[in-house]
Amino acid sequence: MLSIDDVQKLITSEIKNTNFIKKPSNLYEPIEYTMEMGGKRVRPLLCLMAVQLFGGDISKAIKPALGLEVFHNFTLLHDDIMDNADVRRNMPTVHKKWNENVGILSGDAMLINAYQYIAQCNNKMLPEILDLFNEVALGVCEGQQYDMDFENRMDVTVDEYLEMIRLKTAILLAGSLKMGALLANADEKDAQLIYDFGINIGIAFQLQDDYLDTFGDQKSFGKKIGGDIIANKKTFLLITTLNNATLEDQTTLKSWIKADNFSEDEKINAVKSIYTKNLVDESSQKLMDKYYNNAMENIAQINGNKVIKSELIHFATKLMKRNN
Ligand code: IPE
Ligand code: IPE
Ligand code: MG
Ligand code: MG
Ligand code: MG
Repeated sequence: MLSIDDVQKLITSEIKNTNFIKKPSNLYEPIEYTMEMGGKRVRPLLCLMAVQLFGGDISKAIKPALGLEVFHNFTLLHDDIMDNADVRRNMPTVHKKWNENVGILSGDAMLINAYQYIAQCNNKMLPEILDLFNEVALGVCEGQQYDMDFENRMDVTVDEYLEMIRLKTAILLAGSLKMGALLANADEKDAQLIYDFGINIGIAFQLQDDYLDTFGDQKSFGKKIGGDIIANKKTFLLITTLNNATLEDQTTLKSWIKADNFSEDEKINAVKSIYTKNLVDESSQKLMDKYYNNAMENIAQINGNKVIKSELIHFATKLMKRNN
């Protein structure tokens, strides 16, 4: 049995030992660049911990787990183009270092690569694993489209936001855990419970990402602070302030959202101070706690290895408090 730290090392060395480079270099170099620029490796970690939770053979799950990380990194390449983001993991994003066409095509190649790795699972499991992965991957696309659509809407509700982040973020975390459960032949009830655990952790995870995007520290977060504010992302922070602030604050906020010509820093600071004044940073933490608690209820009902279960709980707790 491997601890979280050991699994983390295993994933890191698997990625290090994988040669992503082929010709043409403008297709493959960005893949290696992205895969080796770090990241928390949350999705393969969850997958491999789930394998162990249900007594499966971790060595047979490494390639599919790697596929999940490649898929995640593919979504980041395209996401950074869509979000106009210049920095990720404290490095220039692919479309900035190369160009947008390179970002699109390298991303496409990564999606195909992801399938190649996922297909290296136990043959008997392949149809079920592929069904799961396809559902997850399409869900991420749906979530990403809602995210973009919401930029131009002013009437997005908290429920719509929660559904959007369930799709764009939570189902990949949930799907990674469920993939581990399936690979370990867990029973259906446990596979569903670990999926639900992943959904709840995933929603809390994206709430924290959105919180850090405004209130985090650029160096540790690795992404530009205020990117969501500039893009008018309909985060919980923005929606809740639009719903609850004084008329004056609402008017100011709306005028920043409509503004075409503005200093980015000025907009970020103005919006941030309205958020703080309205205590939405605290409301967002409270909502995170709610999803975290739901996740704890899910995992408590799971029949699995007790040591791994407590490691997973510890990991999930740390994720909620992360600054990166
Ligand atoms: C970033 O994911 C995109 C979100 C779903 C918030 P991570 O926060 O897992 O990014 P890395 O892989 O650790 O850089
Ligand atoms: C992205 O959400 C989720 C996916 C990549 C599917 P964000 O746009 O908030 O992710 P970051 O903050 O750029 O990592
Ligand atoms: Mg983004
Ligand atoms: Mg995005
Ligand atoms: Mg973000």
